[in-house]
Amino acid sequence: MAKLIVVTREGEERELEAETGLSVMEIARDGGIDEILALCGGCCSCATCHVHVDPAFASLLPPMSEDENDLLDSAEDRDETSRLSCQIQFTAALDGLRVTVAAED
Ligand code: FES
Repeated sequence: MAKLIVVTREGEERELEAETGLSVMEIARDGGIDEILALCGGCCSCATCHVHVDPAFASLLPPMSEDENDLLDSAEDRDETSRLSCQIQFTAALDGLRVTVAAED
């Protein structure tokens, strides 16, 4: 099984089993990372699933949609590694992906 590593706001590193076909948000939520609120359920309208992605994986991520980009603009903690985790489908190529939960807005 592939792995997803999530770093919590306290800096705790959690290694989760990652099923391909799910989003990074779903894997984190199902894995008990309750800092990822995912209030809209993954339909790209809340930004409470904001994470920072390890730059080493940047080229493997799906491109950012205009909606995702606009939503991230409303997040104070946005930087060049920011993504909405519900918009990243987990694929085998992302095995070992490391994301850090963004600061709460
Ligand atoms: S869960 Fe709402 S934007 Fe990702």
